This record gives sequence, C-alpha cells and structure tokens, in this order.
Amino acid sequence: MNTAIILAAGNSNRFGGSTPKQFIRINNRLLIDFSISTFEKIKNINSIIIVVSKKYYSLMTKEYPEHTIILGGETRKESSYNGLLACDKNTKKVLIHDSARPLITKDLINNCIDTLDNYSAVTLAISIKDTIAKVNNSSIIKIDDRETLRAIQTPQGFNYAKIIKAHIEDKKNYTDDIQLMLNSNYDCKFIEGNEINFKVTTKNDFILLTEYLKNAK
Ligand code: CTP
Ligand code: MG
Repeated sequence: MNTAIILAAGNSNRFGGSTPKQFIRINNRLLIDFSISTFEKIKNINSIIIVVSKKYYSLMTKEYPEHTIILGGETRKESSYNGLLACDKNTKKVLIHDSARPLITKDLINNCIDTLDNYSAVTLAISIKDTIAKVNNSSIIKIDDRETLRAIQTPQGFNYAKIIKAHIEDKKNYTDDIQLMLNSNYDCKFIEGNEINFKVTTKNDFILLTEYLKNAK
C-alpha cells in the first residue's frame, strides 16, 4: 500500500501572525484543504496521515474524520518521523508533502509515485531563476553554476522501509527528507516540479496565492 503524509505542525514564524499559514481560510477553505483534497483524488494513495500541533488536533479530527490525524514535533524532521511511525506497516511507498504547498497537482503526485517503481527516493525540483551565492557574514564565499542547481519542492517520495531506517540512524536536523536520504547515501532522484507548487512562506506568497486562485476561476 501507499501512504501520504501531509505536514502541518509548523508555527509559520516567517509568515507571522497568530494563525499558522496552513490554517488560514482562503475562498472559505483551510489552506491545508487544497493539498489534502488533491491527495484524496490519487487512486494509488491508500491512506492519508495529517501531522498537526496540539492546538489544531481537535479541529482537524472534526474536519477530516476519514484521515489519520497525529501530533508533530518541534522540527519538520520530528514531524515527518512521527508521520512515518504512524504509517500502516504494509506501506511500500510513502509520500511526504508540505501542507504549505497548496497548488500541488495530481500529475506531479502521480509522477513521484511512478518514479518509486525504480528508485528509493525522489523529490520534485525546479530550475532556479536567481544566481545563488553561499555567504558568510556579509561576504560572498562561492557561487555555483546556476545550471547545476535546483530548488527542491514536495512531495518527496520514498521506499518506506529505507526512510524509516534513515530516520532512526541519523538524528541530524535536516530541513527535508531528501537531504536525510542523500546523507544516508541513497541515490536520490529529482523530477520536474512546477513553479506554481511554491511554498507559502511569507505574506507576499499568500498574496500571490490569492491572485492565482482569482485568475484560475
Ligand atoms: N512543519 C511541521 N512541523 C514542524 C515544522 C514544520 O509539520 N515542526 C511543516 C509546516 O507546517 C509546513 C512544512 O513543514 O507545511 C514546511 O515547513 P515551513 O514552510 O518551514 O513551515 P513553518 O516551519 O511553519 O514556517 P517557518 O519556518 O517560517 O516557521
Ligand atoms: Mg520551518
């Protein structure tokens, strides 16, 4: 079986405000509902686990009685590990998605699932527009050729047994699971994501999302 984990236990520090970005209402829907309902449409996903903080646990169990709601941790890494522990043990492929990426599409999710037929770890990624510099204080240390760089998105898909093992063996705090798998020496593949699958991180991203939804009507 295949399981999707939707991460929603973050505090939205960069976004600010009192409501975490994934629980803001937009067009009368919770922002997190956009990604949940897209995952619900995927035939090859048998189970959805939603990882939330204590404060939103009861709201989410009421809104989504058909899904498994569990508590996250202090970091994204802990939240994703909690999600993995809650998966049915018959899970073969697991997808981990940021609830803060509402515009994920069915095709992109299916492409991740299909790639896992041949590989143990896959992520969506896109080309970058800006030149990226490694810096220290106010000095630029290094600039890599832009053509060799990609911006990493989610969902990220994994062989379930392998990612559980990686989480148990490596307790470093990575910002996502593909970084964990890379540091565990797995061959990590990327497939083409989409600019519209951006992560709502700042207030400005929320304005972009609102505009996008207006135009998509
Ligand atoms: N996340 C989580 N548990 C955490 C931290 C993050 O489940 N302890 C989730 C967020 O809810 C989000 C996704 O991981 O959907 C990506 O994280 P990010 O965009 O960084 O969200 P936040 O951590 O909430 O935002 P910030 O870093 O600005 O505080
Ligand atoms: Mg964060």
